[in-house]
Amino acid sequence: MITIAIANQKGGVGKTTLARNLAFHSIERGLRTLCVDLDPQKNFTKTLLAQRAQHAELSLPTDAMSASQLFQPVVSGADSGVRPLACGGNAALIAADRELVDVAALPLEALTLPRKWLESLAGAFDLCLIDTAPTLGNPLYAALIAADYVLCPCTVDQDATDGLADLFEDIARVQQLGWNTELKLLGVLANCVNTRRVYDQVGLQSLREGLGELLIDSVLYERAATKVAKDRPVWRSQRGESHARAAQEMKAVCDQIFRRTALQGV
Ligand SMILES: Nc1ncnc2c1ncn2[C@@H]1O[C@H](COP(=O)(O)OP(=O)(O)OP(=O)(O)O)[C@@H](O)[C@H]1O
Ligand SMILES: [Mg+2]
Repeated sequence: MITIAIANQKGGVGKTTLARNLAFHSIERGLRTLCVDLDPQKNFTKTLLAQRAQHAELSLPTDAMSASQLFQPVVSGADSGVRPLACGGNAALIAADRELVDVAALPLEALTLPRKWLESLAGAFDLCLIDTAPTLGNPLYAALIAADYVLCPCTVDQDATDGLADLFEDIARVQQLGWNTELKLLGVLANCVNTRRVYDQVGLQSLREGLGELLIDSVLYERAATKVAKDRPVWRSQRGESHARAAQEMKAVCDQIFRRTALQGV
């Protein structure tokens, strides 16, 4: 299982948008996809629950684990009685819950527990996507400790790009303090770029110069079709030229991210 954390402490930069489209991309490729929502806002959770609602055959869950349980000690495999919530086909969810807000106060030892839980589930999944909350510190550390890769969507306004330095500092801390020496920065994705706004073009150019290869070549432009597609991939139900462009751009981004992680469909 490859685990990708999608992170940026700045709010509204496209973490969940990217998480949900990567999840759909992975599901469509036949990969067994585990979606973990570490954000108590529950946006990623809602997307997966909508997916689950389309599968009437799924029985009511009695033992599905929620994300705050990832911070409790691991109980061994089959006896644990807790598992991700099946969402149809090859997708499953560890849903965000209100108790996640308490993670901020947990000691370091507890922040390594989600990694142990996910390791115990690794045999059942090919890809694990972790959506994170807009915050630095403990909740982010837990995701970075659990992940193989961290992917950082970012808008091109100055406040957001300035914030990347703090994010990179936290990533480096996790690597250098030995909390997760294998963690790799998959890249930064420029999101919500307005094709007609000069400010955005200048911002995108300076991101390119500053980040070099760390910036993912494909860009997500600001598109109404991307905004409204909360419960389905952007590339479903295309209407009109703008929607088709949004679909194409999102597909290109997902393909490129998969290539960077050497993920293959089955
Ligand atoms: N490329 C885009 N074009 C248009 N709207 C977008 C685009 N990307 C994201 N949005 C919209 O911007 C808003 C914020 O996006 P999203 O929820 O993905 O950000 P986030 O980083 O997960 O936010 P938070 O930090 O609150 O979790 C959403 O309404 C989303 O639909
Ligand atoms: Mg979000």
